Amino acid sequence: MSDRTLIVGNWKMHLNVSQASLLLHRLQERIRISSDIEVVLAPSMLVLQPLSVRLDRRKFRLAAQNAYATDEGAFTGEVSFTMLRDLVHYVIIGHSERRIYFHEDLKTVRAKVAAAVRNEITPILCVGETKEERKNGETRKVLHDQVTTALADLTAKEVQDMVIAYEPVWAISTFQGILAKPDEAQQAMDYIRDQVKQLYGPKAAKNVRILYGGSVDDQIVGGYLAIPGCDGVLVGGASINYHKFSGIIDTAYRLHRKAD
Ligand code: 13P
Repeated sequence: MSDRTLIVGNWKMHLNVSQASLLLHRLQERIRISSDIEVVLAPSMLVLQPLSVRLDRRKFRLAAQNAYATDEGAFTGEVSFTMLRDLVHYVIIGHSERRIYFHEDLKTVRAKVAAAVRNEITPILCVGETKEERKNGETRKVLHDQVTTALADLTAKEVQDMVIAYEPVWAISTFQGILAKPDEAQQAMDYIRDQVKQLYGPKAAKNVRILYGGSVDDQIVGGYLAIPGCDGVLVGGASINYHKFSGIIDTAYRLHRKAD
């Protein structure tokens, strides 16, 4: 397993300020400070600011779930990466829900990744194929296109510092929610790392963190964390459940203790 495990909770459009504060409070009491594990919370945009003042920074970091690629201007309803730069450490970019429901294309995702890096926020780039694409044998092509276009404006140093999450759309709980077998996840994650190697060299490929996401919960997380080259998990539904999310973190601790 990876030297340092990254666990990201994507709360999606759940939890208002008081619900989010309550969950943070409970998690904060339970979770230990550890150099082996980094826990990141991605609440809704509205919740980021109030959560940031309550957050124990030794235990958690914050991520936004989205942002707009232009730094400032007349874009009603949007929040830019520039506005988020002192608030969050990470931004999730290109999540399949944004690609599917909000029609974000490869060009938009590329502009957002560049905007994140320009504003010194670490991108968590989500990539993954639909069930249809997998059935048609297009998984590699989809991953290739998503990875290469999203990283096109970056240097090798910028790529090595970022995070890529492999989230097959068919495995996300709110789409089909079929569990990906760890070896299926590993094949795709290896392919992503290989793409990074071909484009940006071995150092970037070694250092870029690659996560798995899709119906991960406390019962099955160990199988994914044990995948060679898996640097952590991106968790949706289970991350808003105190028992499941703290169970995921406990499993990561346990695996690190065993590995020491
Ligand atoms: P689930 O864990 O609910 O399948 O969601 C995964 C996801 O989309 C995280 O970004």
